[in-house]
Amino acid sequence: MTQQFDVIIIGAGAAGLMCAATAGYRGRSVLVLDNAKKAGRKILISGGGRCNFTNTQVGPENYLCSNPHFVKSALARYPSSDFIELVERHGISYHQRDHGQLFCDDSAKDIVDMLLTECDWAGVSIQLRSEIHTISQNGEQGFIVQAGGHSYQAESLVIATGGLSMPKLGATPFGYQVAEQFGLKVLPTRAGLVPFTWHSEQKQRFEALSGIAVPSCITAANGKQFSEALLFTHRGLSGPAILQISNYWLPGEAISIDLLPKQDALALLEQVLQQHPKQSLKNTLGQWLPKRLVEALFEENQLSKALNQLGHGEREQIAAKLKGWQLVMNGTEGYRTAEVTLGGVDTNELSSKTMQSNKVKGLYFIGEVMDVSGWLGGFNFQWAWASGVACGQDC
Ligand code: FDA
Repeated sequence: MTQQFDVIIIGAGAAGLMCAATAGYRGRSVLVLDNAKKAGRKILISGGGRCNFTNTQVGPENYLCSNPHFVKSALARYPSSDFIELVERHGISYHQRDHGQLFCDDSAKDIVDMLLTECDWAGVSIQLRSEIHTISQNGEQGFIVQAGGHSYQAESLVIATGGLSMPKLGATPFGYQVAEQFGLKVLPTRAGLVPFTWHSEQKQRFEALSGIAVPSCITAANGKQFSEALLFTHRGLSGPAILQISNYWLPGEAISIDLLPKQDALALLEQVLQQHPKQSLKNTLGQWLPKRLVEALFEENQLSKALNQLGHGEREQIAAKLKGWQLVMNGTEGYRTAEVTLGGVDTNELSSKTMQSNKVKGLYFIGEVMDVSGWLGGFNFQWAWASGVACGQDC
């Protein structure tokens, strides 16, 4: 027997649950299907277990999308202040960190519980551990979904299955396959918000720096720049600055790292030269950067020289390296550790107001499955909430 609903949502993650509650409150009968054991698994592990659920300053400039205007409408209609108001209504305490990032005080579970409560109040049915077998279209009747030995039918079908990052959390290419099944274009995908890995010779030289974190300003080949912490790891480079720049990096391109952001390295060197001309380069740089990093960046015969033994040109070269250390990294850690997937369902196929397919009436895509990725800092969840609401008001 086929069970009837107005809306079937595949994916009980951030976007799917938000959409479900919104559609449920409109009086639509909503079924959410997910193959996982738990709803909102990515939310639970996000933000180090405290979920960076949004950002106080959200704008289209915080997103990557091959159609940059696409995100404007949904973000404007569901701003971060609306989500903050929802969080406050549920009595969840939170705090603000650098760059406007908002985190739960206690646990990311508060956000999942809030979304599940909203779904419950809106009368939404949620079926977990539901393996989706087939999806087909039944003329005017809508869509038939065969899942876990059951058959469901609905006028509207919403795909909210997320991207490919973290396969161990159940990420699948399912959403892209559905898009292709219905003739929608899917743009090539790659890992985003992801650490970089060393080439083998770089690894030999820099592996010992693992654990060191320094302030930095990193510039990608296309000029995009982020000023945040840089972290050395056994495998390569990580930290917020690297995760941010990875969204704008393509294999083979160099990144440029400013290790003394907001400081004039040459002026600093010249100043120390005036005051302590016999001080070694190593001790001088050691005032500003961790000693181990200094030793890995420069040769010992240069580091042991006193500042007044270095020519002006040599000091200029040293300063230039500190302000623009050029590195061509081997690659990224890939989907295994990436926070997001760049690319996905082409937004040119979708309405920016409703997230509905332009070609297939009643078929919607929301959240990370589409070609919209945010910066680090709560922007990806804000997109999940905003696209989920836009769709939930229409589906
Ligand atoms: P999401 O991945 O949340 O949900 C997809 C759902 O679909 C899942 O429940 C999955 O089980 C289900 N599904 C997949 N395939 C299926 C199939 N074949 N059949 C049935 N169900 C299927 N963002 C942010 O803004 N702040 C943060 O702090 C973090 N932190 C963070 C940490 C880590 C470790 C990761 C990996 C990611 C983040 N993110 C983040 C990114 C954020 O988690 C992500 O962008 C959103 O969860 C995307 O929401 P969606 O609902 O689109 O997908």
